[in-house]
Amino acid sequence: MRAGGVSCALLLTLMLLWTSEVGFAAEDRQIKPFRGEDVSATAADMVSAGGEEDAEGELAGGFASLDGMLQWAISHSDPVKLKEKASNVQQMSVDELKRRQLEIKELVEKLKVPSDAELMRRAINELNNSSISLEDRQHALDELLVLVEPIDNANDFCKLSGIAAVVRELGSANSKIRLTSAWVLGKASQNNPLVQNQVLSSDALKTLLEMARSGVSEEGVKALYAISSLVRNNDQGLELFIAEQGGLMLQDVMSNPSVDIRLRKKAVLLVADMADRQLENPDSKRPSLFRSCQLLKSVVDLTSSTTDLDLQEKALIAIRSLLQLDSSEILVVLDMFCGLDKALERMKERLKELAVLGEEGDFARDIESLGGEIRTIFRRKLEAVEQPLAPQFC
Ligand SMILES: *[C@@H]1O[C@H](CO)[C@@H](O)[C@H](O)[C@H]1NC(C)=O
Ligand SMILES: *[C@@H]1O[C@H](CO)[C@@H](O)[C@H](O)[C@H]1NC(C)=O
Repeated sequence: MRAGGVSCALLLTLMLLWTSEVGFAAEDRQIKPFRGEDVSATAADMVSAGGEEDAEGELAGGFASLDGMLQWAISHSDPVKLKEKASNVQQMSVDELKRRQLEIKELVEKLKVPSDAELMRRAINELNNSSISLEDRQHALDELLVLVEPIDNANDFCKLSGIAAVVRELGSANSKIRLTSAWVLGKASQNNPLVQNQVLSSDALKTLLEMARSGVSEEGVKALYAISSLVRNNDQGLELFIAEQGGLMLQDVMSNPSVDIRLRKKAVLLVADMADRQLENPDSKRPSLFRSCQLLKSVVDLTSSTTDLDLQEKALIAIRSLLQLDSSEILVVLDMFCGLDKALERMKERLKELAVLGEEGDFARDIESLGGEIRTIFRRKLEAVEQPLAPQFC
């Protein structure tokens, strides 16, 4: 929070003052620092009063505490004069400079820079306060965005009831506040089951799904990022995602060409991720995202309906993951409902043109080869399906 910024300003001022003026304390003890508005001395005055004696063991003359001195220094330092004085540093001997460096170091260590947990507590406290300005609210969220990244901090964030405070901000009328909140939740949940479960037990997922479908691109991108963090490697998250119509959201995003391309890529990556998860953790009693024929079709359509090679490649990767599930139902849907074979053929033709034209030729050839590989796998697996009955659920 601002405290972080203040600490920085404090340190800078202090270093300037301290480097050139360690001695100022000795003679000027009668100056009653900082609360006295009547004190007219400037930092430079203070400086000129000082000798070169060692101020060892003392905080600045008459200052009851380090904090007092800092307050004084801040309110009285004149940048121009400080700069002048700082040039004196150049005249100091190496030993002198080293000694002063050490003094600064000790002083800095004495300074209590607030811990990350303390900074988070302050930010959450601000979010809890309904009367702070929008700007302060945004600032608190921006701070949290950085603070929650290390996993220990994310756990502390949980313990400090940060999740409830940030989830509340998802409902803000301000789009930037909403998207930063989604981003904070995504970061905190990344690879952290404790945070994932706490966020999942709020109603955040529902809100995030609405945000992802809203069509507001930046907000959608951050919401989908948060959703991916929440459900990754988390079965409870995945079930909730399916129950809350997450599949429909993915399908909408993937099949709508006017949706931000980043959002479409994230959606197809999430499909691949979920297929991989299902492969690692097969449990036929669990709900599966891939019982929706429309969802599968929207993945297949990406192979031939987009002009973005990167998106095409991601779609192919998702299809490869789906094929690995070895589900005859999925194979039959991919064949009869999605027309995978024809789609891959169309894709191949278009990629050939690109490769001939030389535009992104290498990338096009790579994708073509991946497409060929997938086609082979698909045909082989499909032949092994005994009774290719149209699935009941389309
Ligand atoms: C914020 O409010 C929640 C209740 O909504 C409370 O549990 C929490 O302790 C508060 N946190 C801070 C830091 O004020
Ligand atoms: C809430 O914020 C307002 C405005 O910044 C401030 O005056 C007030 O003291 C704060 N309340 C709490 C409980 O921190």
